[in-house]
Amino acid sequence: MTSNLKKAITDSWHAAWDKGDVSVFDQLTATNYQRRSARSATTTGLDAIKSDILAIRAAFPDLSTTVDHIVVDGDERDCKVAVYWHSTGTFTEPLGDVPPTGAEVVTTGSNLLTFDAGKIVYEEATWDASALLADLGLKSLGSAFDQDVDSISDNLDGEPTKEALKAFNRQFITGVTVVTTMDTDGKPRGLAVNSYNSVSLEPPLVMVCVQKTSSTYPSLFASSHMGINILGCNQRDTLRTFASKNADKFAELDWHQGPHGSPLLDGSSAAIEVEIKERFQALTHTIFVGRVRTSESTDNDPIIYKAGQFFESHDLTPLT
Ligand SMILES: Cc1cc2nc3c(=O)[nH]c(=O)nc-3n(C[C@H](O)[C@H](O)[C@H](O)COP(=O)(O)O)c2cc1C
Repeated sequence: MTSNLKKAITDSWHAAWDKGDVSVFDQLTATNYQRRSARSATTTGLDAIKSDILAIRAAFPDLSTTVDHIVVDGDERDCKVAVYWHSTGTFTEPLGDVPPTGAEVVTTGSNLLTFDAGKIVYEEATWDASALLADLGLKSLGSAFDQDVDSISDNLDGEPTKEALKAFNRQFITGVTVVTTMDTDGKPRGLAVNSYNSVSLEPPLVMVCVQKTSSTYPSLFASSHMGINILGCNQRDTLRTFASKNADKFAELDWHQGPHGSPLLDGSSAAIEVEIKERFQALTHTIFVGRVRTSESTDNDPIIYKAGQFFESHDLTPLT
């Protein structure tokens, strides 16, 4: 009579995912229950899946789940059960440290349950929160939900240190940009960023990395477009302002909006407006990749940034 088992699983799925009644899994699981996620290659217990469900429901309050198929192999008490399901919901509240985008998502998964003496002892899921992010178009670099922030780099001699990476970064010379956006109140926001890079010319793609603690970050994350302004040597004060946490960084500035609404700073060496295409989750930072939609440039010499200091760029000596 596998129909009883199918009904019990379907009812539990709906109670937990659609109503937040995660205690239903207490009846269904054995004390040694374990859940393996194929996607993140992690194994967790009952408490972890319960808190994941509650966190996802908090982020997607209108979450609605459909159990599409249940296939039972074996008898009701000792069997393997495959559950195929999909959920729909709107991303209106934060999920961990990922701000909401208001996007609707359909996410699909399958779970293989191993029953022993009528209880689930082991569950293999094709799905975890990183799959949900991917379905939202917010690709995760796998570390998005990783709590281990101590190891930040691979070091081939076996001694990864933050200092070694800092020393490496100090040898890399960049310019300085100000990345801008409009917040939902129509207020311009921005921060100083030197992690700008051109990705490709055809198609015209660029990227920036922004720390999730930045006050500009939630607005940027929710925006369809951003401005990227390369600061000129005449904009030393502007740089100071955008490297700060000032509440209104645009108060003393002349600026205009690009065709898609992004704030562009007058007097910059060059400025582009970019349509944000990807938001890769990289633990403490998000890598925004976007397609350049408009570009403006001048002859103003750009600021040079090296090892924590700023330099003029007008009398550089070319190498021969
Ligand atoms: C030269 C320079 C480069 C910076 N590059 C970045 C960067 O690439 N990404 C980032 O998130 N912050 C970067 N910052 C730090 C932010 O500009 C700084 O934390 C700022 O106060 C954030 O402001 P907000 O919290 O108001 O957004 C940089 C700062 C400076 C001075």
